[in-house]
Amino acid sequence: MTSGTKDYDFPKTFRDAMALPECDFKSIFGQQAVKGWRDIRQIEAFFRCLTEPVHVIELGCGAGWHSLYIAMSLGFRDHENRYDAYDVSEEAWRVSEFSKRIGARITFHCSHDVFKQPVDALGDGSGKKVLYCDIGPEDIVKFAPALRSWDYIIVHDWKQKNYKAAVQKLIEGGVVAYFEQETWERTGEHMGFVRL
Ligand SMILES: C[S@@+](CC[C@H](N)C(=O)[O-])C[C@H]1O[C@@H](n2cnc3c(N)ncnc32)[C@H](O)[C@@H]1O
Repeated sequence: MTSGTKDYDFPKTFRDAMALPECDFKSIFGQQAVKGWRDIRQIEAFFRCLTEPVHVIELGCGAGWHSLYIAMSLGFRDHENRYDAYDVSEEAWRVSEFSKRIGARITFHCSHDVFKQPVDALGDGSGKKVLYCDIGPEDIVKFAPALRSWDYIIVHDWKQKNYKAAVQKLIEGGVVAYFEQETWERTGEHMGFVRL
């Protein structure tokens, strides 16, 4: 299991923070984050190209600041989007409380092992889903088949978590296809797919 925030040395002084290259500065709303601005650009670009309401289901949200950031950016849209963020740890309790205070449209499910839930427990079946996988290859393997045609899947840590081998089987089995592979590959650590 990869822990959300513990492996990153958050700069504590002004000088340390300013010494980091911009893309390596991993902070959202001033809170320590796992993803840097390169990741955020990719995710923003992806969601910007979607024109219909979506239900985002994030598997492995860690401390949750990145999830809140995406949910808030979706909140600027004209249509209603939903966001459910899951993690087996309790790390997101703080952002969960904060998100309720500011009325953000996101629900955090802390201490929730997604592998203990049935695949059809992903939402209520309505609307277009974006499954956001950040646990490891086993999350896309289990949950991608449960999606409907033309739902989206994005994975984080594409180059690090050995997703490629697992995804290759799904591609060969006609379950998913790449969503603009070259563009994602050029720009960072995310990769996108569509459910066939
Ligand atoms: C790489 S981290 C996620 C980072 C987070 N998405 C972010 O941007 O800050 C992977 C997360 O998966 C969670 N995780 C691992 N196994 C899980 C499981 N069975 N159910 C839910 N979450 C799990 C871990 O607790 C960890 O927070």
